[in-house]
Amino acid sequence: MIILKGLLTVLVVGLICAALYILLDAGDNDQQSALLDEDAFLLIAHRGASAIAPEHTLASYQMAVDMGADYIEIDLQMTKDGVLVALHDDAVDRTTDGSGKVAEMDLADIKKLDAGSWFNAENPGRAKGEYVGIQVPTLEEIFTAFGDSTNYYIETKQPDESEGMEENLLELLNQFELLEECLPEGKVIVQSFSSDSLTAIHGMDDDIPLIQLIDNSEQLIPSHEAFELYREYAVGIGVSHRKADEVYIAAAREAGLWVHLFAVDELAEGKKLKSLGANGIFTNDIDAVRGLK
Ligand code: G3P
Ligand code: CA
Repeated sequence: MIILKGLLTVLVVGLICAALYILLDAGDNDQQSALLDEDAFLLIAHRGASAIAPEHTLASYQMAVDMGADYIEIDLQMTKDGVLVALHDDAVDRTTDGSGKVAEMDLADIKKLDAGSWFNAENPGRAKGEYVGIQVPTLEEIFTAFGDSTNYYIETKQPDESEGMEENLLELLNQFELLEECLPEGKVIVQSFSSDSLTAIHGMDDDIPLIQLIDNSEQLIPSHEAFELYREYAVGIGVSHRKADEVYIAAAREAGLWVHLFAVDELAEGKKLKSLGANGIFTNDIDAVRGLK
């Protein structure tokens, strides 16, 4: 009788544990899987929390993560010795104390540069001592710092001048096992103004969600055929919020494309764009637009 009671207790406890595990696991999956769902609206930290910290630095990304961004946006450049670094411009002049093209400098040269003092000088109200001497991070350092604790929205910049940029990117994403939760989880999104760069990535791994960026110089709304062409390799488009009116957003959505708009730092503007059917915004100031979530 006692043995029977014991077995029964073990069985009941086991069942309770199993139920708890399933519930907890389901909770996790729901949170990650929401990112690329039909009704999700993404807040993408444009160059990190670039309104309050030097863009494309670990400090800027950490703040964006702490502020609850869905993605940290990383612009990629490649050094002369083939290392991927986070920098918007193809030259270091605007955001460091150095001068010259990234593609003509070795990583060792880039690592000597101060990527924070310019921000303190331009934003005295937001200046911090810890920004002085802060480095330009490599993509590997960013993945090492954040691992799978955040999501990455990565742009290949000047890919035509950086041979092997896409291969290097995929190699690092695989090395850090960041491609296991692609669709619909959306751990990683890759974006570019270069359709060649995106189709190259699509050719290597067609699970990675890709975003075709549309240049500000494009005056007209792309035709339905153009949108359908993008749809062959991309899940969405990225376009300036100044260009994307109701007709533009509807045309892209009709072609089955997500619409992500850059860069929006005003809540009212964000609300308007969300009501027009946009699926997310790049923002320099997560705090200002947090109300959209
Ligand atoms: O990547 C989206 C948006 O950031 C594109 O413009 O010049 O800021 O990279 P840019
Ligand atoms: Ca960008």
